Amino acid sequence: MDTTRFRGRSLLTWLDYDPGEIRELLELSKKVKEESRAGKINRRFTGKTLALVFEKRSTRTRCAFETAFGEEGGHPVFLSTADIQLGAKESVEDTARVLGRMFSAVQFRGFKQSTVETLAGYSGVPVYNGLTDSFHPTQVLADIMTLEENFGPCKGKKLCFVGDGRNNVARSLLVISAKLGLHFTVITPPSLNPDPGLIELCRAPAAESGARILVSADPAAVEGADALYTDVWTSMGEEDKRAERRALLEPYQVNRALMEKTGKGETIFLHCLPAIKGEEVSAELIDGPASRVWDEAENRKHTIKAIMLATLS
Ligand code: CP
Ligand code: NVA
Repeated sequence: MDTTRFRGRSLLTWLDYDPGEIRELLELSKKVKEESRAGKINRRFTGKTLALVFEKRSTRTRCAFETAFGEEGGHPVFLSTADIQLGAKESVEDTARVLGRMFSAVQFRGFKQSTVETLAGYSGVPVYNGLTDSFHPTQVLADIMTLEENFGPCKGKKLCFVGDGRNNVARSLLVISAKLGLHFTVITPPSLNPDPGLIELCRAPAAESGARILVSADPAAVEGADALYTDVWTSMGEEDKRAERRALLEPYQVNRALMEKTGKGETIFLHCLPAIKGEEVSAELIDGPASRVWDEAENRKHTIKAIMLATLS
């Protein structure tokens, strides 16, 4: 793959990438997974360094970045904001300038999208959004990869996100679906509807790709879905809303009965994880045969490696 058009670029949201580029990254992810299955050892990040800045907890994202970079000969450095000066004694701009002098790339997980944007603006190196309150772009590339492993090209397939329709994962699925022509329905109570401004931004890419983007409060809207997706009812940083969300979202649990409402025998279940079994998803479903969540978690590593290979080579 010719990575020239990716070189030096950050990934803050898929809004900044065109459909052809996203498809190229999916192809590269597939190749990376095949290499991994074949036990092929490459050293494509030798001599490179990666700063992993975390304001919030992580298992999958941290492990995916750290192992993907390290096994290719790169040196990842984990920097929790409990330890570094960022947010305490130093501005984001100044931290970015310093990281850019020492690292080949930076991953950021935290609260504000503006922080990851500032890191990208001032570091001079590629910056990867490993989750903010607004977006989780590396997650949804792995989600599309998993969907395509089951059904082939996602264009024209139907994905339903059931749960907190305004969260970072739902927003990112909305963007990537609009770009790739995947029909996407958000099923959520009206008070948790996705931001109309984001839907507006997705209108043109959806018109171009043929994606139908819908928002519904009715769980019956899962009819015809190839995949049902959910996420926790309260995202990191919203812990005080737990009781309110539980009351609001209880009728939206993804379980066997809801899977049956798709009217399709082969519908799969996706979840970015971590999951609270018994809340947004029944234990029976997530641990049962329709669940693809472990493939999805593994694909985080392959897709993240592909993103870094494309932007750092
Ligand atoms: N899905 C995901 O981002 O998981 P972590 O919070 O464990 O990184
Ligand atoms: N919406 C969740 C995703 C976790 C991977 C959160 O932000 O906590």
